[in-house]
Parts: sequence; structure tokens; C-alpha cells
Amino acid sequence: MQSSGGRRGSRARGRSRLRANVRAETGNAGCSETLQRGRDFPSTSALAASETQQFVAAAPGGASDPIIWTLSPPVGTISSEGLYTAPAFIALALTVTVNAADAANPARQAGASITLVPSPNTTLRQAAPRSLLMGAAATADELPWIPDPLYDPSYTATLSEQYNMLTAENALKWPIVHPAPGTYNFEPADQLVAFANAHAMKFRGTTLCWEIDNPDWLTEFATTATPSAMAALLQDHIQTVMAHYRGQMYAWDLVNEAVSDQATGIGTDLRDSLWYNSPGIGLSGTGYIEQAFRWAHSADPDALLFYNDYGIEDEGPKFEAVYNMVRDFVSRGVPIHGVGFQMHLDTSGYPTTAGLIRNIERISALGLQAHITEMDVRLPVDSNGNASAAGLNTQAQIYQRILSACLQAAGCTAFQTWEFSDKYSWIPVYFPGFGAALPFDGAYRPKSAFNAMIATLQVAAPSGNAATPTAGLSY
Ligand code: XIL
Repeated sequence: MQSSGGRRGSRARGRSRLRANVRAETGNAGCSETLQRGRDFPSTSALAASETQQFVAAAPGGASDPIIWTLSPPVGTISSEGLYTAPAFIALALTVTVNAADAANPARQAGASITLVPSPNTTLRQAAPRSLLMGAAATADELPWIPDPLYDPSYTATLSEQYNMLTAENALKWPIVHPAPGTYNFEPADQLVAFANAHAMKFRGTTLCWEIDNPDWLTEFATTATPSAMAALLQDHIQTVMAHYRGQMYAWDLVNEAVSDQATGIGTDLRDSLWYNSPGIGLSGTGYIEQAFRWAHSADPDALLFYNDYGIEDEGPKFEAVYNMVRDFVSRGVPIHGVGFQMHLDTSGYPTTAGLIRNIERISALGLQAHITEMDVRLPVDSNGNASAAGLNTQAQIYQRILSACLQAAGCTAFQTWEFSDKYSWIPVYFPGFGAALPFDGAYRPKSAFNAMIATLQVAAPSGNAATPTAGLSY
């Protein structure tokens, strides 16, 4: 801020011309005030969600010399006539500077501040821009060692209020949906679909083709089966499950974790897998993945089909290997629509913001979408499962950084965490000594990570948010 004190000379003369010619007034209070950098408007400096404030500025050239209006940070909208509308949901108190510049002489300008008043209980799905889905993995009654979370009112309230997309964390994986040869069990995933539909949430499935997390009967079958028998089984599985949910799925993480951790980045090295080479379905190279996409697309042409993996969030050979595969698929018309970046992180600093943005934008440049599919940030915890205050603070910064990268990168259309409450996270089971990885604690209280996400979304949503329900429901 510059002082308007009485220095003489060219700068002072320029400022006084500005004050004489670029004027602003409060519309509803009827009073007028010179729009001057560093001074608030009297009596109307606070705006609630969706409220509108008229600013008026006049340039010396009159109507033929328009005013250029800008907002800093760019929250809400301002018309060419100076009509400022606050966003529909305001998460945190925030001061926005409205700036009027003379188009004929942009150095001639003035600013005024306005304070946004938070709306109570703003949620992630409300705060997000329309272009970004906010998702969480969720569980019905498919895991015998976890009581059905859909009967936990705090679980269902948090899930439906905060998110507009959910992924079946396990209900559509082989062991649950295809527990015995020729036997399909759709009941847990059906519950999740019904929940998603009831709350105007998109529904996403994972995964129909993965090397691990397969039922024992399948692993045993693969030890003696011929490739053609494996192909018939995979085709039946993909088409049966996808036909059951035809028209109800927003997206599938169809093939999961197929690329080798030792990939060189030249071509696409694949990990050993019962679908690839042990015994495989009889197709070389990425042929089995391509075939899975083709079967899936014919079973449900409206579902978006993703390849999903970990270790591809930053630049490096594994990302290059995935990129080579999907670029080849796109060039040959294989029905693939996106790449999922899992994003299971710790506090090591991986991935870099620049690397993640670059990867997403390269995927986007192929005409594909990028989704953050499984984000969590695990922390060391004590025997009670509690992380340190410093750890939680670092975690909040990581959530903020990744969400911000997704918002900046063209083509990042969904941001999803792997569950949302520490109560049901997979981390303590799979990474002993770690936990507290999600934005809500075990009692569904928002953590610093949640506040950081809300603040990040708020600043990134210049023209509204994703609050409009798609199925006629209200919030
Ligand atoms: C995990 C689930 O969270 C666990 O409940 C289950 O026991 C194993 O799978 N990458 C993936 C996810 O793609 O499907 C995994 O989910 C976590 C790692």
C-alpha cells in the first residue's frame, strides 16, 4: 500500500489525477467515495455469500475509455460494470481487493477492500469449483472386520455433505464381487450406488483387473489355466460387473497398477501378473490392458475408463512408461478416458508440485482426464493412533499443495481421498506405526488438512462452485 501523503512530483500528480477521475461508490448505501488504494468503503465493506456490491469508477475518457476490473485474490465475480458478487459459499473470512484501472492508461488505477463473511459449515463439495469433483472412497458392509459404516450417522453425514463423488473402496474388487467361480455378489456395491444416487454423488468403481487382492480361487485357477481360459474369465468378469452397473457408473479405475516399478521409461515395462504373463490372457505387451478397455467399453459405453497407478505422481521413468502406453492407446483409438494418480503419500516431499502439474498436463494434452484417486498422507502415530501437532501441520500443507496443483493443472477433474475419516483408513493396517492420514479424525472432526483444503478451494473458485446438485436434491 502506498501512502497518500503530500509528496510532490510526478508520482503525486499522477495519484491526484487518479483520485479526481477514477471514482467508486457504494450502490446500496447511496454514498460515493473515491476508489482509492488502501481505503475501505464505508459501512459496506463486508459481504456475505452470494451478495452483490456495485462499484463505480469513471475514467477521464468517459464511455469510450472503459474500466478494467480485477479481484485479488480472484474470489467471486466482477462484471465489466463493476458489479461484484461474492461466491455462493465462503469458507473463511477473506479480504478481497477490488481494483479499477483506466483501460487507456492502466497505471491510473484505484483499489478498495471488501471482507467476505464466512457461511457456516461450508463443505468441500460446496467450495469446489464446478470443474472439480471432490471424492472419497467408501465402505458398505463388505469387510467382516468392520461394522457397516453406512449405519454410522456421522459417516454418512460427513460423506454426503462433504463429497460429490464416491468410490467403492473394496466392494467392486474381485474378492467381494466375485467370491467364488460363477458367483457374483453385488449387494455391498449396490448399497453404495444407492447412497451415491440419494445424495447427488457420482459413483466410481475400482478395479476389475489387478495383480493383487484377488480371491484364492482365482489365484489357484491361474496356476493351471490356459491363457484362453484366463481370457474368457476376465471377459466374463468385466462384462458381468459392468453390465450390472451399466448407466450408473461415472468412472472405473479399470486396470490397476500394471506398470513395473522398475520401468525404464522406454516403452512400457509391465509387472508380472496373472493377466499379463502368469499365465496371462494370451496377449503380449500392453495387449491385455488394451483388451480390458475394449471389453469394458462395449459393456458400458458411458462409463469413463481410467488406468490407475501409484508412483507416477512425479516426473520419472514410471510415469513415462504409463504415458507411453496411454499415448499409444489414444493414437489407436483404444477407449481410455483418463489416468488416475493414486497419491498415497508420507511427509517425504514426493511429488514435487511442478512435476505433478507437468504430468497431469501431459495426460491432458492427449485428450484424457486426470484424477487424484486415492490421496492420503500417513503420519507416524503413537500407540493411541495420535500424530504430533507438527505432523498434522505438515500434512495440511501437503494436502494444500496437491489440491492446489490439481486446481492449477488443466485436465485435473477430480480430487479424491482414500476414505475421509481416520476411523476407516487402510493405513494403520498396511503401514504399522502410521495413521492419521485423512482430513477428518476418527471422530469425524475436521483436521488442519480439511481447513487447508477448504481455503485452497475457496481461493481457486473465482466463478462459483460445484454446489448445484445434479439429481434435484438440495444441500
Ligand atoms: C486397499 C484398501 O484400502 C484395503 O481396505 C484393502 O484391504 C486393500 O486395498 N492402492 C489401491 C487401492 O489401488 O485399491 C488399495 O486399497 C490401496 C492401494
